[in-house]
Parts: sequence; structure tokens; C-alpha cells
Amino acid sequence: MKIMVVGGGGREHAIIKKLKENKSITEIFALPGNGGMAKDATPVAIGAKDIPAIVEFAKANAIDFAVVAPDDPLVLGCVDALLEAGIPAFGPKANAAIIEGSKVFSKNLMKKYSIPTAAYEVFEDAESALKYVESCEIPTVIKADGLALGKGVIIATDREMAIDAVKSIMTDKKFGASGNRIVVEEFLTGPEVSVLAFTDGKSVVPMVSSMDHKRALDGDEGLNTGGMGTVAPNPYYTDEIAEECMRTIFIPTIEAMNKEGREFRGCLYFGLMLTPKGPKVIEYNCRFGDPETQVVLPLLETDLLEAMMATASGNLDKCKIKFANKAACCVIMASKGYPEKYESGYEIKIAPEVFDSVYVAGARLEGERLVNAGGRVLGVTAVSDTLGEAIEAAYKKVEKVTFDNAYYRRDIGQRAMKALKE
Ligand code: AMP
Ligand code: GLY
Repeated sequence: MKIMVVGGGGREHAIIKKLKENKSITEIFALPGNGGMAKDATPVAIGAKDIPAIVEFAKANAIDFAVVAPDDPLVLGCVDALLEAGIPAFGPKANAAIIEGSKVFSKNLMKKYSIPTAAYEVFEDAESALKYVESCEIPTVIKADGLALGKGVIIATDREMAIDAVKSIMTDKKFGASGNRIVVEEFLTGPEVSVLAFTDGKSVVPMVSSMDHKRALDGDEGLNTGGMGTVAPNPYYTDEIAEECMRTIFIPTIEAMNKEGREFRGCLYFGLMLTPKGPKVIEYNCRFGDPETQVVLPLLETDLLEAMMATASGNLDKCKIKFANKAACCVIMASKGYPEKYESGYEIKIAPEVFDSVYVAGARLEGERLVNAGGRVLGVTAVSDTLGEAIEAAYKKVEKVTFDNAYYRRDIGQRAMKALKE
């Protein structure tokens, strides 16, 4: 079988490595992929948002199954276009991907169907938004409606910040048209949990839970990033909480989308906060999380292609999805200075014995040399029987990967370890 994966980061590399375990796959193309995954897939210089070129490529190369991983192409209708061209594809259609594509849509959906989330107001003009934040409770959370490269959420810890956030999103259009509308919502507290779930609109099968580490520096200090590391499972997510989330969040969300005529087929990401008043939805994503995928898929025992095909064809109930009763830790190695200014072009050396554990995100080939070409360069994952062992093993593997100006957090998983001891 010939497979095509749309996207080019560490998440896509993790998907590709897992797919490769299926021996019926003869070739995997990554559009655009990156030089760091060239040993696992054939990178093709087609951008993830160039939908006409993606469809043309799939037809010309007789692709048997496509996986669309990033949010942008999903929201832009990449799966719709592939399906219309007769190419089976994993991922939601555009009318369902809106669950991530518009925060106003997702908040209104949750309100309409009583799915627990932070209380909120929607604003369509800067004037009324400013008036509101001048007297609302602080801290408050301000979110651009549309996609904003994961940067459209501002936690305002004082009023001045809240006012600046509204101005930069709505007046200065920091995120372009994504900021035409904003959501201002209640500030929630509690441990965060990421739960990815396969769903075909009829069944919903949560994967093993995980914990992201979004801040750049140790101790959850510094700027928000795309994610500096992950662990799975998330110790805060007990069986009891999982049961409650299934009943109050997962099933109601799938049913709500069906009732709206927006059946969701693909991977639905639930960003949850376990508040003192119970689990609440912080955000939905219409895709696998990055870097959550880099710890979740290594624990998957079921064949990934089989699970994806069952999901895409509406036969998820016939596929038994199993995860190993183990733990995983992924440490992201970034370029020093990320998420602000950083230098690139330094050669990356990966020792052969850890090659299978490395998921490359920001790198390119210069002849035979692999050099860093992005803020988040790669992720290193280890799986072990316990979380403590997985963390230790991941950091040991990190020592086998070198490039100048490499930076990584030293405390990935420590919060989870603390929770396990409590
Ligand atoms: P996002 O970019 O949507 O993943 O949001 C970034 C982070 O902002 C989340 O992971 C949370 O830590 C935080 N966040 C978002 N909404 C809220 C909220 N209502 N209360 C507290 N923190 C929030
Ligand atoms: N790790 C968060 C995300 O994928 O959006």
C-alpha cells in the first residue's frame, strides 16, 4: 500500500514511524515532511496547505490512503478534497474541523449541549471587548477566534494585560482575520490533561492520556511554546475521571457534532482541565497533538493503519484498540532562544542506537548533513514500565543527540512524578 502523510513536524514523524510497523505498506510520502524523516518516508516538496497540489499528487501516485495531520489543511478542507477525488483519508472534513478552527463555534457548541467549559463572552468589535475587560474578573483569558499557530491564547494576570491583548488581537490584528472575533473566558485552575480519541462519529475510543509541558523553561516558567515535552499516561487522569469525561464530555461532544450535521471522523483532541468543580474542556483540536503524539503512539499496540482506516470508514466499533500498560516520556530538543529568536544551520548528530526514538520536526538536509531549521528541532522518546524509568531513559537518549545551541528542559515529567507520589 502507498500512504501519504500531510504535514512535516515531529507529530507526523511519529505517525510515520508507527505506520511503518504495518508490513503491507510499501511506501510513505510526507508532504512536505522534512529532511530528518527521509529515512522513514519520502519527503515531497508540497506545502501542507496546497490542497490542489496534494490531491494531484495523491492521484498521480495512486495513493491508497492519506493521513492529514495538521490543523490548517483540515480546516481548509483537505480531507473533503481528497475524498471527492476518491482517495480514502484520515481526518475530519472542514465542517467538523471547525471545532478547532473557530473558538466561538466550539464555545457555543459546548454551551448549547451543556458540555462543561469555562464561562465566556464573545466580542465582535474592540470597543465592546475593551469595555468588558475594564471591569471583568482578573485573571481572565483572551482567545482569538481562529487558528493562530497556537499563540492566540493570552492569560491576562492584570487588567493592563487584558486591555493590551484585546488591542493587539482586534485592533492591531496580530493574528490577522483570526482575531476578527474574540472569546473572553473565565480563568480556570487545576491540572491539565490531553486526551486524544479516535472517533468515527459513532464510537469514541480515547487513547492513553498525556501531559504536555508548554512553557519554555524548567518549573513551568518562561514563554508558552508549541510544547517542550510530554509524558503518558497522565497520573492525574484516574479511571474515575476518565469515566466522568467519557460521560460528560466525550460522548456529548460526538453527539453534539452529529446533531449539528458535522460528523467528526478522525482524531479529536480534548484539552482538559481538572478543576475543583470537575473536568472542563479548555480546547478542542481536530487532530493529533504535538508533542502528545510522540508519547501516545509509541504505546499503541494496535496497528495504526488499521485503526485509522476503521475510523475513516465508520467501522471503529470493529477495531479493538489497545495500549501497552507502560509509560512514555518525550523530551523536545529546541534551538536555544526558542520561542523567540534562535539560530539554525547547525549539524544534528543522532547516534544510530537512538535513531528509532527520535522524531524530527525542524531540520533539513544539506547534502548528507542534517541541520536544524526550526525552533523545536526534534523529540526524543523512551518507553518503559514505569514513568520514572521512562523519564530517565529519555534523558539518557537525549545525550546521544547533539547539535550546537541545543536547549531542552530538564524537568519533563517531574510534575507527573510528584502527582504519583501524592
Ligand atoms: P491553547 O493555546 O488553546 O492550548 O491554550 C494555551 C494554554 O492556555 C492552555 O494549555 C492552558 O494552560 C491555558 N488556558 C487556556 N484557557 C484557559 C482558561 N480558561 N483558564 C486557565 N488557563 C487556560
Ligand atoms: N500540544 C498541544 C497541541 O498540539 O495543540
